[in-house]
Amino acid sequence: MSTPASTTTSPAAGTATAVAHSNIALIKYWGKQDDALHLPATSSLSLTLDAHPTTTTVRVLDGPAGTAGSADEVMIGAAPATGGTRDRVVRFLDLVRALAGSDRAAAVTSVSTAPLGAGLASSAAGFAALAGAAAAAYGLTLSPRELSRLARRGSGSASRSVFGGLVVWHAGTDDLTSYAEPVEAPELDLAMVIVTLNAGHKAVSSRVAMRRTVDTSPFFAAWVQAAGADLADMLAALAAADLPRVGAITESNAMRMHATMLGAVPPVRYWEPASLAVLDRVRDLRAAGLGCWATMDAGPNVKVLCRGADLAAVAAGLADAVPTASLLPARPGPGLVVQPGAGVAR
Ligand code: PMV
Repeated sequence: MSTPASTTTSPAAGTATAVAHSNIALIKYWGKQDDALHLPATSSLSLTLDAHPTTTTVRVLDGPAGTAGSADEVMIGAAPATGGTRDRVVRFLDLVRALAGSDRAAAVTSVSTAPLGAGLASSAAGFAALAGAAAAAYGLTLSPRELSRLARRGSGSASRSVFGGLVVWHAGTDDLTSYAEPVEAPELDLAMVIVTLNAGHKAVSSRVAMRRTVDTSPFFAAWVQAAGADLADMLAALAAADLPRVGAITESNAMRMHATMLGAVPPVRYWEPASLAVLDRVRDLRAAGLGCWATMDAGPNVKVLCRGADLAAVAAGLADAVPTASLLPARPGPGLVVQPGAGVAR
């Protein structure tokens, strides 16, 4: 990442805490044009929710980070991070250290209410919060756009959790041009019911599944074309405050993404029987006159888009579709908030 124009560095070691929320894409990101920079093949559009916040505190330590960040202390929840999870955080800290011109280690504490790795956007909120806290702790002053670009390097979808409400992530062609920004749709009263069917960690990470889809699915080129058209339709539907159209595009775009990954070799299938039961129930509720539309990500769980005024009715309608499911009604949530100091996480 090149040093952003408005970045200033400070020699003083600091501490900062940041809070970010999950986002769920209405137009999905699936497939990269550049794996190292997390440049997506297509632009995407999401809704940041008031659900599943992640609170992350970064404290810059006195000593150097050491080889492969050996001196970094990374806590996820109550436990020290290990393996690939720790490596991802350390690699991200390395990026921030390079921007800040610092070799100091950091202590990171990240607390989330979301199940991790279950397709419930834990990495989106997690890396947005880490970007905000780490940048501030290492003395960088970044604009929201620069924070979005930085968060993208942790997890693509994290670029969108820097902003609240509806957000578009422009695919771009390089590090500078791939960033998210808010989309205004003031007349739309959007909400979502998050239907958690299985909070277990997914067997195939979205990184591996995307790579496999790009490399082996004969449908990938068609996906890229369809996703571009879906985004244009979605922006028009949002501008017209046409919720049924927004919902129909949301559902069909998710089906297209999953169809594309089903075409990979070997196929990537995140759905479980219970997912289908929820999709059927959404279809039945809609046929009965209740506006609701389903979307799914890299996991078996289903998110159901609806009008805010219908949130309770939709949650009630979904309640017995899968008796073991947990239902979380959610509304549009805020963007990244960063505060200097230890905040609430430590
Ligand atoms: O940012 P990642 O690597 O967690 O990928 C997110 C992929 C989807 O959730 C399936 C789609 C999206 O746009 O959020």
